[in-house]
Amino acid sequence: MPAGKLGLALTARELTALVADDLKQVESVLRLESIGSVEAVSSIARYLQGNGGKRLRPILLLVSCRLFRDPTPEAIQLAAVAELIHTATLVHDDVIDEAKTRRGKSSANVVWGNQTSVLAGDWLYMQAFQIALRLRRFDILDLLITLTQRMVDGELLQLERLGRIGISEADALELIDHKTASLFAACTRLGGIAGGAGEVELAVLSDFGWNLGMAFQIADDILDFTARESVLGKPVGNDLREGKVTLPLCYALDSATEEERGLVDAVLADRAYQRVTFDQIKSVLVRRGGIERARLRAREFTAKARGLLEQFPDTPARAALMAATDLVADRDR
Ligand code: IPE
Ligand code: IPE
Ligand code: MG
Ligand code: MG
Repeated sequence: MPAGKLGLALTARELTALVADDLKQVESVLRLESIGSVEAVSSIARYLQGNGGKRLRPILLLVSCRLFRDPTPEAIQLAAVAELIHTATLVHDDVIDEAKTRRGKSSANVVWGNQTSVLAGDWLYMQAFQIALRLRRFDILDLLITLTQRMVDGELLQLERLGRIGISEADALELIDHKTASLFAACTRLGGIAGGAGEVELAVLSDFGWNLGMAFQIADDILDFTARESVLGKPVGNDLREGKVTLPLCYALDSATEEERGLVDAVLADRAYQRVTFDQIKSVLVRRGGIERARLRAREFTAKARGLLEQFPDTPARAALMAATDLVADRDR
């Protein structure tokens, strides 16, 4: 393993070790709460949860809680809620993106078809709200509903912009905010709520999670160009094929020649790497510094996130959150 990756592996261990026992409880809540009366729902949930997933959202929620206190049963339930919402978005997202793989296996839409997957995704959302409802906290339900609508708005905005080459940096960042950073912010805030944090601390935690989420999705958009599918566990090169001009490409297009823009346009028009290969697109990205600029932008978000953490006392939980900021920008899956 190269030194850099070894460093990241150690960092990942630092982050998960702190909440390993809590996570075991979350896993059993997830198993218990993913049993529907119709077999397809239980099978899809088991299939997705059984095979990996980094569990980053529950981890962030639990570690955020640990800034203030050991996780309560409420924190465990909320961590499961966060992962269930995330799972539901993945199931729907793969239908929308026509993705063929997820978490290293065929995606649910490939195995069960689009119709069943959409309904199973709906069921998972409702199950998440059901658990939250049991806590009798209207503030938390309000947060979760607002969050879910924001994520759906993000997917809708993305659909509206499909196939457009003229995506500005602001457009790309707006999508990232809706699709991903909003859920990260909700997770760190919920962790704080479960830990009994005050309003000021909650605002800092949300802001931290948001910045981390922005960096995380930028890294995801970079990985769509640079990763290997066997490591990533989901398709590579899919964003442009699906008509999405993500941040790295948006930056590359800033300084691209007419000919290079033509290559991107051809893939957008064909919705396939037919006349133009994926390698040709990657060369444009590298030549125009799109990957590099996106990586720098991601690091700006993680630097902001780290700065926000300085406001909390130096505890193992804070160190673990610091570790998370290193992880997200330079991850390989
Ligand atoms: C995938 O999230 C969706 C994005 C926001 C990019 P993760 O990369 O956290 O997916 P899993 O849960 O580890 O599979
Ligand atoms: C992630 O968008 C946003 C979600 C809420 C699922 P992507 O479409 O980039 O996610 P992946 O790459 O399919 O995981
Ligand atoms: Mg997708
Ligand atoms: Mg992606």
